Amino acid sequence: MSNFITDANWRYATKKFDTSKKVSAEDLATLKEAIRLSASSYGLQPYKVLLVENPALRAQLQPVAWGQSQIVDASNLIVFANITNVGDKEIDAYFKDMTTTRGIPMEAVQGYSDFMKSKIASLSLEAKNNWTAKQTYLALGNLLNAAAELKIDVTPIEGFEPEKFNEILGLNQLGLNASLVATIGYRHAEDDTQHYAKVRKSNEELFINL
Ligand SMILES: Cc1cc2nc3c(=O)[nH]c(=O)nc-3n(C[C@H](O)[C@H](O)[C@H](O)COP(=O)(O)O)c2cc1C
Repeated sequence: MSNFITDANWRYATKKFDTSKKVSAEDLATLKEAIRLSASSYGLQPYKVLLVENPALRAQLQPVAWGQSQIVDASNLIVFANITNVGDKEIDAYFKDMTTTRGIPMEAVQGYSDFMKSKIASLSLEAKNNWTAKQTYLALGNLLNAAAELKIDVTPIEGFEPEKFNEILGLNQLGLNASLVATIGYRHAEDDTQHYAKVRKSNEELFINL
């Protein structure tokens, strides 16, 4: 079996973390790199990733995350925050980076830049924000898989109040919105969930051959 499949079977959405175990700086750097390398639509990476270390902030966030214990017990807490009202500013920054990185003139990509700007400008504000939020799920997927390879546990968390997170973390004024949370660390020996069999659709239910 591929290592990927073995790791995917090993991982599970951890309900109870071992508060005595901390993710090493080296492993955290690997996980950040996995997030940084995530694919995104047009390559725009229209989000920021907050590494929330401050225990007082984490304590403030827990009650507005359905009281979930992982928010305070896990070694690390990450909040994926999508850019709201994405547009020309982010696209210009992307092409500045691309042309510098690849050593190509702006004229070579001007048409593509204009195309991207017109496509994104044609979306409603709601559609733009949904679209940027969707991109964060890819980064979360990378995080889940990279962590599993390192035998590090992650809980993906949608069970939280975004407006409250935005308020506590001051995201509105940064043009950001909390779209997803991930808690990272090591499973507690007493977390019964680790022993539950995986519930997944069968191939017949999931795939359609045409
Ligand atoms: C986007 C997303 C949001 C989730 N939100 C929560 C959450 O708020 N709390 C929680 O305990 N689990 C959460 N989960 C975990 C899922 O319930 C879990 O991934 C699913 O039941 C499959 O089980 P497994 O990941 O353990 O294999 C979330 C998963 C995803 C992908």
